[in-house]
Amino acid sequence: MIKKKNSKIRIFSGTRPTGFLHLGNYLGGLKGYLELQDKKDYDCIYSVVDLHGITSPYDPKTYQDQIREVVLEYLACGLDPKKCHLLVQSQVSEHMELAYYLSTIYPVSRLEQLPTYKEKKKEQPQYVNLGLFYYPVLMAADILLYKAQFVPVGKDQAPHLEVAREIARIFNRRFGQTFPEPQAYFMPSSYIPSLTGEGKMSKSKEGSYINLISSLDVIQKKLAKVPTDAGKGKKIPNKGGVDVLLKLIELFQGKEKRKNYENLYLGKGVQYKLLKEELAIAIYKELKPIQAKRNYYQKNPKLVDGILKQGKVYASKIAKQTIQEVKEKMGIV
Ligand code: TYM
Repeated sequence: MIKKKNSKIRIFSGTRPTGFLHLGNYLGGLKGYLELQDKKDYDCIYSVVDLHGITSPYDPKTYQDQIREVVLEYLACGLDPKKCHLLVQSQVSEHMELAYYLSTIYPVSRLEQLPTYKEKKKEQPQYVNLGLFYYPVLMAADILLYKAQFVPVGKDQAPHLEVAREIARIFNRRFGQTFPEPQAYFMPSSYIPSLTGEGKMSKSKEGSYINLISSLDVIQKKLAKVPTDAGKGKKIPNKGGVDVLLKLIELFQGKEKRKNYENLYLGKGVQYKLLKEELAIAIYKELKPIQAKRNYYQKNPKLVDGILKQGKVYASKIAKQTIQEVKEKMGIV
């Protein structure tokens, strides 16, 4: 771990404002943000990456509400402005400036091969824009702008992290040591599968997710639709709906509980109706206080504005220094 004398280890991460956060965002992303904000000597900046959000179809009329929603849910989950800085990405325009500089050193062919780009092209064939193609370069700029060393993210972001690491290496080789190679920081819950039993939990897949603001009734209905099997067998399924349920049981009810169900599966059989009811209650128990805190922050907009302003001022200062250094090294000033 590289740590300069008297300097803190920088952490950066971000979430797109696609609407309400879901359990994948919470378990794969936010849990890591929370863990790192509590570490001494870590300096965390967490962002709502609104500039990334506009590379997919969105409604400009409700976009500001969506951005605010992520901030509210960040705070509700426990991100603490005394321990970390919260930022709306577009408020520090240096993200875009650095992305442009970095784009001039990175080959187009590498971006074309990225699985995330290929998936998005399939998902939104009417919306394959230049920004979407450029997405990983802007993400690299987000991270490198603050010289972040660790990036708490879910496993789905691993290919993007590789791009950021590669860009850092290319830049350092060409213009002299400037950026640390950022490393992904994965939580044990870094991959949350879809409730449909296929692929990952995602906002763009209807029926695949549970939102943090969901009521018990909604959680029960969503879990009721998770596909299951006969409830017994010789091997514990490692894919499909049963695997999703076991993963969620482990995360919300503990390893012991999962083991109990596994033993039942291998023995006299699991009653999924009961299992799902218990799981829904356990999930809601964790979400209920988050929902109450979200409502508190929603009712205190000035408090939230103040937190974002502080984050902007803090981040801008670092961003300006990096941009100056990059411009000098690239021979632009
Ligand atoms: P986004 O907005 O899709 O998701 C935000 C965070 O949630 C995690 N996540 C998941 N983790 C586990 N299982 C899932 N099913 C799941 N779904 C989402 C994501 O891994 C992420 O940590 N490209 C990023 C945003 C970004 C960014 C950055 C992240 C832009 N610049 C710089 C880190 C650093 C994204 O689209 O995340």
